[in-house]
Amino acid sequence: MKNSLKLSIVLLSILLFSCSKKSEWQTAVASPDDNVKVEFMLTEKGEPTYLVTFKNKEVIKTSTLGGFDLKDMASLKENFEIINATKSNFNEVWEMPWGEQTKVENNYNELKIELQEKADLKRKLTIVFRVYNDGLGFRYEFPEQENLSEVIITDENTQFNLTGNHKVWWIPGDWDIYEHLYNTSKFTEIDALSKANHPDLAQTYIPENAVNTPVTMKTDEGLYLSFHEAALVDYSDMTLKIDKENLAMNSELVGSERTGYKVKRAVPFHTPWRTLQIAEKAGDLIESKLIVNLNEPNKIGDISWFKPTKYMGIWWEMHLGKSTWDYSGNQDMTSFTTDAKPHGKHGATTENAKAFIDFSAKNNIGAVLVEGWNTGWEHWIGFEDREGVFDFVTPYPDYDLKEVVRYGKEKGVEIIMHHETSAATETYEKQQDTAYALMQSLGIHAVKTGYVGKILPKGEYHHGQYMVNQYNNAVLKAAKYQVAINAHEPIKATGLRRTYPNTISREGLRGQEFNAWASDGGNPPEHLPIIAFTRMLAGPIDFTPGIFDIKFDKWKKENQVNTTIAQQLALYVVIYSPVQMAADLIENYEGNPAFQFIKDVGVDWQTTKVLNGEIGDFVTIARKERSSENWFVGGITDENAREMDIKFDFLSPEVTYEAIIYEDGKDAHWNENPTSINIRKLEITNQTDLKLKLAPGGGFAISLKPLKK
Ligand code: NOJ
Ligand code: CA
Repeated sequence: MKNSLKLSIVLLSILLFSCSKKSEWQTAVASPDDNVKVEFMLTEKGEPTYLVTFKNKEVIKTSTLGGFDLKDMASLKENFEIINATKSNFNEVWEMPWGEQTKVENNYNELKIELQEKADLKRKLTIVFRVYNDGLGFRYEFPEQENLSEVIITDENTQFNLTGNHKVWWIPGDWDIYEHLYNTSKFTEIDALSKANHPDLAQTYIPENAVNTPVTMKTDEGLYLSFHEAALVDYSDMTLKIDKENLAMNSELVGSERTGYKVKRAVPFHTPWRTLQIAEKAGDLIESKLIVNLNEPNKIGDISWFKPTKYMGIWWEMHLGKSTWDYSGNQDMTSFTTDAKPHGKHGATTENAKAFIDFSAKNNIGAVLVEGWNTGWEHWIGFEDREGVFDFVTPYPDYDLKEVVRYGKEKGVEIIMHHETSAATETYEKQQDTAYALMQSLGIHAVKTGYVGKILPKGEYHHGQYMVNQYNNAVLKAAKYQVAINAHEPIKATGLRRTYPNTISREGLRGQEFNAWASDGGNPPEHLPIIAFTRMLAGPIDFTPGIFDIKFDKWKKENQVNTTIAQQLALYVVIYSPVQMAADLIENYEGNPAFQFIKDVGVDWQTTKVLNGEIGDFVTIARKERSSENWFVGGITDENAREMDIKFDFLSPEVTYEAIIYEDGKDAHWNENPTSINIRKLEITNQTDLKLKLAPGGGFAISLKPLKK
């Protein structure tokens, strides 16, 4: 794969004259456009600190860096001197094998500060800053050295000192799950502990008043900030602990009760990047490629075996209670026996899979996910003894895996494999090779994995170092078998899709499924207008849009989706994922003219443009398909109705497009009338201005195809 078109490293590496006084070192660095500046300083005690300005105004006040508390060893936090400082500039354009855009500019200035303790062990620590026009990242590097061969980190203590009591969109710093609703509050009103023990979560642990990342903020001056991390490898997830008194956040790494520490690493190693995106417009946060840019180039080579695709599946029907994952309902069964009596509601049958294949083949949908195909589902949620239960190669008696795959091939539809690990990590690890080899032998290239429940072994959490390695090792192993992974209950995305592009999508948020069963009424209309500016900054989301039967009263009277049908269409454009589900039942799509949009919409993009947006209120995104000249536009709003003025000046000049507009009907409303939709055709050029009305909880979707001359 050609992922590096132009590579130019201008190593300035100014040889700085050796001297003992810190002021004589050149320890500040600015972004290529000079707007973002970072200054590094050592305090009198020799503690490393930094501050960040944007257009010469502070955005991060002087904050301490690192201060590693180590097990069985003195902390590594002060009495440092600078032994070297170098600056360099980097500028390249690389190509995404699949993504929101084809080409990505990666242009930053780097400052590398090498520190050493002045006495005792004279341990060394390097801090590297990369400053981009849209923000910055910094990380700690532990270089090879005599007196430090391994570190056991009990705390990292990176500080982010804020300049005011900003407005914050946050979820609690849960060590086990990201599936919380976003809260909007002033920084000093963050109260993560009040979110503990959500009844709908199979696992949750919120030990402190901390938030998870990406956490996004707006300052009183109207500047947008989003804090996250990039390249999370062999380390633990960073939550940010809230210090209300000092208006500061401190890194709080996810721990483990099994080991009693946060991270264990052999030296040399480096931490993930701690990142800050800075934007004057909310939409610029979405267009920013800072997180992927801070990751290393593709290490797995050719990925052409994975094709971005829309998919359907035997899935929503289980969440609605129409069918089940399990075959017999016999919960005592810790390993499946073929004499098990079927209860007759099993969803993953050969026949049902073929029906999905037929429908997909007719409707430009490339793949079908089949959940509940393998043995083990009888003994799943709520059981402690989950090791050794799931089997990732043995189908239930009513599901002929090979025949389904063969039938799919005949119709041009791929099967997406499903591995619900039930967080029983040892069982999954043991079976990975055989399971991925089976997939390869059948020509199946994607698997959706799941990690529902408390992690086994006990005492580990989904976001600790142990699990970070489980998730990453699965990706590495899968790559060997040409398998791509879409993980649910995952570790958060940190841009590793650049390095391992078989990391295609993931959950890691409250997805559509919550609308089917959550006891709190499901995802409110503001959910996705927040997600676009928070969770989505981390990477692709398997949200599973496209529910047309919004109220599904036939199955569950007490639950519903809290958007209009037009918003469900808009999500195919607003939410980015290279695998995008048409999640509803076949019968709810059949004969519905709105389905045309799902048929037409692309999944792999040349270009992405955010046309408007305010966090938690609304957002409109336009994307141009890679394989055609077609554009698609999606806009969504929260619980408020709005009028939007859409300018099509992003379209190619001198081309007239045939547009199909799917907009909320006059009387549409997410609760009162969610299926009211108006579909009209129009000719549009890059001169067109269009006024569109969005209903409460509504949206619009537009497909634009060049008219043949
Ligand atoms: C939770 C996932 O998010 C959901 O999509 C899946 O259907 C179930 N686990 C079963 O694996
Ligand atoms: Ca989930």
